[in-house]
Amino acid sequence: MAVRRVAVVGANGKTGRAVTSALHAREVAVTAIGRAELASLPSALEGADALYLIAPNMHEDEPAFVRRILAVARTEGVRRVAYHSVAAPYAPAMPHHVGKAEAENAVRTGSSDWTILQPCAYVQNFVPALRPDDSALRVAYSPRKPFGLVDLADVAEAAATVLLSDTHIGATYELGGPDLVDVHDVARAAGQVLGREVPVSRISVEAWRENDGSNLDSRVRDWLAAMFDYYDEHGLPVGSLPLTVLLGREPTPLEATLRRELRPAR
Ligand SMILES: NC(=O)c1ccc[n+]([C@@H]2O[C@H](COP(=O)([O-])OP(=O)(O)OC[C@H]3O[C@@H](n4cnc5c(N)ncnc54)[C@H](OP(=O)(O)O)[C@@H]3O)[C@@H](O)[C@H]2O)c1
Repeated sequence: MAVRRVAVVGANGKTGRAVTSALHAREVAVTAIGRAELASLPSALEGADALYLIAPNMHEDEPAFVRRILAVARTEGVRRVAYHSVAAPYAPAMPHHVGKAEAENAVRTGSSDWTILQPCAYVQNFVPALRPDDSALRVAYSPRKPFGLVDLADVAEAAATVLLSDTHIGATYELGGPDLVDVHDVARAAGQVLGREVPVSRISVEAWRENDGSNLDSRVRDWLAAMFDYYDEHGLPVGSLPLTVLLGREPTPLEATLRRELRPAR
């Protein structure tokens, strides 16, 4: 079936904006569904050929959020669904990953024509810390652990690809960047782009709780602390082959992503 209009749940967030612009680049219309439109979901889904489902970051009950939207999609006859999950969803030490594992099951059992994308953490997550003139990277986990950090623009391009072809129905793709990298690699690549050294420091999770994490809701703080503990032990290594195939090229290298993202605003 030709997909001409995609309803994007979570369209106003970082991921949703990237997916929307990848769809627009392919001349696909987007119905943006943000928090406000969720209240009138049936009418928001009207006329959509497909649904791209992005749950809010660290949602307290992602499986329920996803199930509720899938139920409306079924009623409205939107069969084609792609769900934005995460790499390694079944990681019992990280509650927000487990929420996505359960939500994946809801997608596989509660929609007919589904695809699931499992991206690693985005390179873009580091960008706010890198913007100031005296930027430094301070993390609450080992800066030596490997990650398949991925360019969000590549993830968005992959999302548009899977939505526009039926060949991806029933597929689950893990999406990692071209290399396994650590936080020192991010700092080195940023240093190349910025023309100065970017220092890296590591703080304890307890220090993070008392400083950067202190204004967060206590559940979100606990879930992020659990994520840092997991990263500290395992990182989040993810392979690059599925993304290479979906893009028809190598995923964007770390330094190229940072060069684009750190370009001075005109
Ligand atoms: N960041 C990463 O590295 C990464 C990697 C893999 C997967 N993911 C996943 O990608 C998803 C999106 O992440 P993101 O960083 O793009 O999100 P984000 O920028 O925080 O945006 C999420 C959107 O969710 C909406 N929202 C927030 N709380 C809500 C609530 N209680 N009910 C309904 N809507 C709510 C907001 O919409 P309004 O603006 O309309 O209020 C917001 O724009 C998350 O599920 C995350 O786990 C992220």
